[in-house]
Amino acid sequence: MLVLVTGGTGYIGSHTCIELINEGFEVVILDNLSNSSFEVIHRIKEITGKKPHFIHGDLLDEKELQKVFNVYDIEAVLHFAGLKAVGESVHFPLRYYHNNVTGTLNLSKAMQETGTKKMVFSSSATVYSLHGTPPFNEETPLGAMNPYGRTKQMVEEMMHDLYHADPEWSISLLRYFNPIGAHPSGLIGEDPQGLPNNLIPYITQVCVGKLPYLNIYGNDYDTHDGTGVRDYIHVCDLARGHVLALKDLYNKRGVSTYNLGTGRGYSVMEIVETFERITGNRIPYRFTERRPGDIHVCLADPNKAALELGWQAEKDLTEMCKDTWKWQKNNPDGYSTAKKVVVTS
Ligand code: WQD
Repeated sequence: MLVLVTGGTGYIGSHTCIELINEGFEVVILDNLSNSSFEVIHRIKEITGKKPHFIHGDLLDEKELQKVFNVYDIEAVLHFAGLKAVGESVHFPLRYYHNNVTGTLNLSKAMQETGTKKMVFSSSATVYSLHGTPPFNEETPLGAMNPYGRTKQMVEEMMHDLYHADPEWSISLLRYFNPIGAHPSGLIGEDPQGLPNNLIPYITQVCVGKLPYLNIYGNDYDTHDGTGVRDYIHVCDLARGHVLALKDLYNKRGVSTYNLGTGRGYSVMEIVETFERITGNRIPYRFTERRPGDIHVCLADPNKAALELGWQAEKDLTEMCKDTWKWQKNNPDGYSTAKKVVVTS
């Protein structure tokens, strides 16, 4: 069973490729390497013993995309490729709409033309209206509050319209909460370019001395210790959810939506304390103003995925932080120290 993974050298895409290969799928990765490294291909081979096919290409190149589907007999697509920095999307909305929405439009057209009608789409909890009351279930009203989240919401709506016009499609929309952690081998992990936007990579870079201290955005939220609470989920649990969602597409048509979270929230201070315990280092921090757009609590109701996919998160916060720390310690500069050779197979 040959599947295409767009964005497969990225953080979540690479972890999902490992789970797919371990489940017996043959993987073709299409990635423009704009926010990831070809080194990930070598690491996937080192972990699984199998080297995925790799195409250095972009979803905005329609000719290249058609070629992929003509060369490879692709059964299904797991679609991760996209820009994903909330703050950046506010400053460059057109870049986000072009890359995330037009890219998915091109991909869906190429799929339709070759009769490939199974897709797992990487969506996000940012599609939920912040006025909703957590825990969010899949029926919680949508209302993304930033261009990044709106691109995810638009693609979800595009998928519903696509299925309405052509009921041959089987589509799974997976709404991630806060993916963190790394493969237990310490060989792959999150490798943000530039200053990390997200909490965990920022903390780990403080831990390895690349950054002086953590800014904690607000300690006056309506939570037990005043700092923001989020539903952190181990990236390997998230990856396993994708494999189960893919397998489910072979049994049904239509568009299904699932939250991938744990249903358990942790505050920023609890994360800091966990990292201090695991690393044995103190993490210098200071409280600053709230970050615009942040909410008090974001939490998943993950019951639908448990009921319909037989999926639930298994790894706890200590494991998430231990695996993240192992990756960061082994790769203090991420993949950048690895060679930059790209070989398109
Ligand atoms: C977590 C908590 C911050 C950084 C984002 C995207 C979302 C999804 C997951 C793609 C919050 C606090 C953070 C820092 C801090 N990505 N924080 N200092 O904002 O919940 O979700 O990543 O789908 O779309 O919005 O994650 O890690 O940025 O923040 O105090 O330097 O940590 O205020 O409470 P977030 P985050």
